[in-house]
Amino acid sequence: MRVLSGIQPTGRFHWGNYFGAIQQYIDLQSEDESYYFIANLHALTTVRDPAVLRQNSLDAALDLLALGLDPNRATLFLQSDVPEVSELTWLLMTGAPMGLLERCHAYKEKKAKGLAADAGLFTYPVLMAADILAYDSDIVPVGEDQIQHIEVCRDLARAFNHQFGEVFVLPKPRVLESTAKVPGTDGEKMSKSYDNTIAVFEPPKKMRKQVMRITTDSRAMEDAKDPDTDHLYQLFSLFAGDAAREEMAALYRAGGFGYGEVKKALADAAESYFSTAHARRAELEAHPERVREILDDGASRARKKAASVLLRAQEACGIKG
Ligand code: ADP
Ligand code: TRP
Repeated sequence: MRVLSGIQPTGRFHWGNYFGAIQQYIDLQSEDESYYFIANLHALTTVRDPAVLRQNSLDAALDLLALGLDPNRATLFLQSDVPEVSELTWLLMTGAPMGLLERCHAYKEKKAKGLAADAGLFTYPVLMAADILAYDSDIVPVGEDQIQHIEVCRDLARAFNHQFGEVFVLPKPRVLESTAKVPGTDGEKMSKSYDNTIAVFEPPKKMRKQVMRITTDSRAMEDAKDPDTDHLYQLFSLFAGDAAREEMAALYRAGGFGYGEVKKALADAAESYFSTAHARRAELEAHPERVREILDDGASRARKKAASVLLRAQEACGIKG
């Protein structure tokens, strides 16, 4: 089985990115082949400062490695280091129905707000489809919000195969139900766009402050509460083991406790959960040249695979051969 996913370097990774996507990358890295890339071409649709994009891309690589992505098992690279994907994008762009792209949420939401969208944002799902198809990917681990894009990828691949023969492998999304939609500090989906995130590599003191600011309802301390509808409990559950999770759920049901105690327990659990990754990141930061080497090595492996799939597509549609 071949696994692939990409993540945009649009800011530091938050708990939603980690539990929704990155943790799955790490769980799946020992599959036959796994490819993970930093989607800097996609990020260009929003990050327009070159120094920021460069720094974000390096940070993304450091974060992924510190969190446990192992370059001896997985292929880690920068999206832009595989130009074959951009060529494949054009092949898929011809034949991509406008209506299909008009329904995609990133573009649709921007238009609905009356903002001017550019062609990059409009065709974003086509580049994403090329990312996936270029490696004959079977499985794409993502959070819930990316399912629509993978459906588009399947539609484009099916249409191409129908017209030109069996060229592309049809991928499937992999979404974990328990972490599909991690809540943010306001109870809505955690997302950079909503300013409700807690970053994985936030210094512990700052992280604690953010946890203390998580919104809660105003019910009295003695009231019993349902843990399953409470976003603070959901966040705690991500970090706690089974026993601690059950204990906390019982505390909610019994009532008579303050949210401050839950927040403290959450901050403690989160700090210890990410402590190894924090230490590993500090070590890696001292050797940026090692990170560059890992990315270069990953890109050359990824290019080999992408070049063979691109050639297959070019031959099928009459561009080559
Ligand atoms: P953001 O919404 O903060 O801009 P991205 O769109 O860059 O995050 O998402 C990167 C990856 O993390 C995607 O696979 C996405 O599905 C996943 N992800 C983002 N936010 C969450 C969340 N709150 N819960 C679960 N997964 C998430
Ligand atoms: N669009 C994805 C996101 O915002 C990032 C991405 C780009 C991606 N190409 C991909 C994810 C290919 C999976 C597969 O999170």
